[in-house]
This record gives sequence, structure tokens and C-alpha cells, in this order.
Amino acid sequence: MTTGRFENKTIIVTGAAGGIGEAYARGLADEGANVVVADLADEKGKQVAADIGGLYVSTDVSDEASAQALATATVDTYGTIHGLVNNAAIYGGMKLDFLITVPWDYYKKFMSVNLDGALNVTRAIYPHMKDGGAIVNQSSTAAWLYSGFYGLAKVGINGLTQQLATELGGQNIRVNAIAPGPIDTEATRTTTPKEMVQDIVNGLPLKRFGQPEDLVGMCKFLLSDEANWITGQIFNVDGGQVIRS
Ligand SMILES: NC(=O)c1ccc[n+]([C@@H]2O[C@H](COP(=O)([O-])OP(=O)(O)OC[C@H]3O[C@@H](n4cnc5c(N)ncnc54)[C@H](O)[C@@H]3O)[C@@H](O)[C@H]2O)c1
Repeated sequence: MTTGRFENKTIIVTGAAGGIGEAYARGLADEGANVVVADLADEKGKQVAADIGGLYVSTDVSDEASAQALATATVDTYGTIHGLVNNAAIYGGMKLDFLITVPWDYYKKFMSVNLDGALNVTRAIYPHMKDGGAIVNQSSTAAWLYSGFYGLAKVGINGLTQQLATELGGQNIRVNAIAPGPIDTEATRTTTPKEMVQDIVNGLPLKRFGQPEDLVGMCKFLLSDEANWITGQIFNVDGGQVIRS
């Protein structure tokens, strides 16, 4: 049902061809946003955009020219940009290796997408947030738990969120992050061994696997005017997996 909270607002969601990003894209479109689906997975991405009446832009978040092309295509279609969700990451099908042994080429590619990708897209988009804006970065509880280079990239996302909030606050651009716990997406089902997921779920205060829809409310809140005085924060949506003091 359209409630109009994001009527006439243009919001880009990276990595929205499936999983959590798709849930964000659908949730935002339900409340009236012009949603731009930015992903490498063209077929699935086009389908999501067609379903929600949004725009699909084939994008590699790790590439500077591609991020600029995303900004241009969005502005050409909708005039301006109000929100950005930096959700894209190499997660589904990622290599399971240790920080100490992962091949350098893989590590550098991984970081260029999972950490620098959020900065790269932000750098291309923020000049078009002329009336201020809101950015939501996708972190993970992996930032606080041992999880090798995947977790290290999410620690970086948390730091990026804090640093960018400071740099962009003067332009009334807010930057926050969501740190989800284990979420039942195809990527999790194919990447993380089932027994490992079950062990994690058993240890949660709220003992169930998270669903992408569990994250959508927080994403919408952080992009909305209700969060007008909130920036530089990392919000866990994780069934209580990480309780920080
Ligand atoms: N599923 C979980 O349990 C979980 C938990 C915490 C955080 N996260 C984070 O949530 C986000 C989405 O996770 P998901 O489970 O939906 O996984 P997913 O693998 O389905 O989603 C990632 C999306 O990013 C896209 N992508 C990958 N590289 C890209 C690039 N270079 N440029 C543009 N798009 C690219 C993929 O095509 C895919 O659509 C990721 O940032 C992930 O780290 C997931």
C-alpha cells in the first residue's frame, strides 16, 4: 500500500537484483519512491525494476566510470537523488578462506567491491543530493565476530559510515549503517554451511533465522524524515546476536 512517505523521492539501491537489496527496493517502491536498481546481475535486476516500476542501471560498484554512469542515468530519468543504499557486496558464492591465506588478487577485488564500492558510489552520487539526502550502508554483525576478510570489509563499512557522516553532515547528507544478523537469502543458503547457520540461530536471543523483510523497516526509517537528526550510527538488526555496550 502506498503511504506516500517516499513520494517524489528518488532512491538508488545497489545490489538490488535479489536478496536483501531486492527487499529494500520493493519496500521503498511500496511507499512511493522512484527506485533505481543498480546491480551487475542484469537479467534479475531488470526483472525487479520492471516489477516495481523503477529504473535498472547495470552497475559495477567498484568501477568509477560505472558509478558516474549510474548517477547520470538516475538524474536524467528523475532529476535529482534523495537516497542511496550501499548494499552490493560479493557475498553469494564468496570464497571461504582465511585473511592470512586468501590470494591477494581475490582479497583486493573483494575489498574494491565490499568496502571501496560504497565509497565509490557515494562519491558519484552525493553531488546530486542538492537538497540534502540520506545514505544507508550495509554492514553486518560479521564486523564484531571473527569472519576473516568479509568481516574486515564490514568493519571498514562501519568506519566509512562514521567518517562520511562527518564529511557530509554540512550538506545535510546523513550517513548510517544497518548491521544485519544471519538472513535467509539464497546467498546465505548457498554460501554458509547449513549446520553453521543453525548453530548461529540457536545462539540468538530471538531464535529464528532473519528474513530480508526484517531489515526493511530500519532501512526505510533511516532514509525517511523521521531520522532527520540521526547520522554516523550503526544499527544492528540481528535478533540480538551482538549486544553492544
Ligand atoms: N544474508 C545475510 O545473512 C547478510 C547478513 C549481514 C549482511 N549482509 C549483507 O547484505 C548485503 C546483501 O546480501 P544478500 O544476502 O542479499 O546477498 P546477495 O549476494 O544476494 O546480494 C549481493 C548483490 O550484490 C550484487 N553485486 C555483487 N558485486 C557487485 C558489484 N561489483 N556491483 C554491483 N552489484 C554487485 C550481486 O549481484 C547481488 O545482487 C551484502 O552487503 C551482505 O554482505 C547479508
